[in-house]
Amino acid sequence: MTQKIGIGRAHSKIILIGEHSVVYGYSAIALPLKNIEVVCHVQSSDQALEIDIADPLSTAVFAALEFLDKADEKISVQIESNVPAKRGMGSSAAVAIAAIRAVFDYFDQSLTLPDLEILANQAEIIAHENPSGLDAKTCLSDTAIKFIRNLGFSEMAMDLEACLVIADTGIHGHTREAVAKVRNLEEKALPYLHRLGKLANTIEIGILAKDLLIVGQAMSQAHHELNQLGVSSPEANRLVGVAQAQGALGAKMSGGGLGGCIIALCRHQEEAVALATELEKEGAVNTWIENL
Ligand code: MEV
Repeated sequence: MTQKIGIGRAHSKIILIGEHSVVYGYSAIALPLKNIEVVCHVQSSDQALEIDIADPLSTAVFAALEFLDKADEKISVQIESNVPAKRGMGSSAAVAIAAIRAVFDYFDQSLTLPDLEILANQAEIIAHENPSGLDAKTCLSDTAIKFIRNLGFSEMAMDLEACLVIADTGIHGHTREAVAKVRNLEEKALPYLHRLGKLANTIEIGILAKDLLIVGQAMSQAHHELNQLGVSSPEANRLVGVAQAQGALGAKMSGGGLGGCIIALCRHQEEAVALATELEKEGAVNTWIENL
């Protein structure tokens, strides 16, 4: 008899604008990265799964098993991922979503989107402590979204005919620590968060008007604010500087920060390819190009 295998998939994400300020109720805009995926396989095992409550994968699997009233079932879980971990690309949310889908598939149970999102955010609490819900929402979306914590989200059309270069500094980001750092600044963080919130509005206006200069300029200003807030890193600052010097319309760190990825806005594919090559020469360990 062939053994049942449960399969779940999820894609990654990148934040265009609004990391950190989204935690405090300002709007954020994020994009799904549909070609950068996690796949999870679940099958039966002769041993009970060891649950490590500090690990988002374990937490996601356990949350799914508990939801299905199958916490005592013996299963094994394997992850295959193209999403680099701890780089602000939503690896923890994508792993959680893929794992939850795989557990439900293994037990032939249907899974509603709201239940999936609640379970994924339970796992995100382990990775992020106080997640805004932006990462899980974007990893569950097929289109770019505008997201406001506790209010909801709307889909955004992104027909800018431009390209976004994503470059990995190679340094692990530390979302939990970065979120705690901002929280510990207390009211000193407020002016930065407020300006980041306004820049998210500017970028939304720029996207609606298809004005790449507005979008790019606001991205670079957001990087400045995030750096002042203390959540960027020397490596991200360096790659942002390289992108700006190479003529990108704008560039910023993306995600929780203290490492992770930067993004840069380019007018077209040719410019994006040239910039990606330059960023790799200057130390980026990987680059991706997304059409916007
Ligand atoms: C992390 O990808 C984004 C942050 O804004 C945290 C969150 O939204 O929960 C830094």
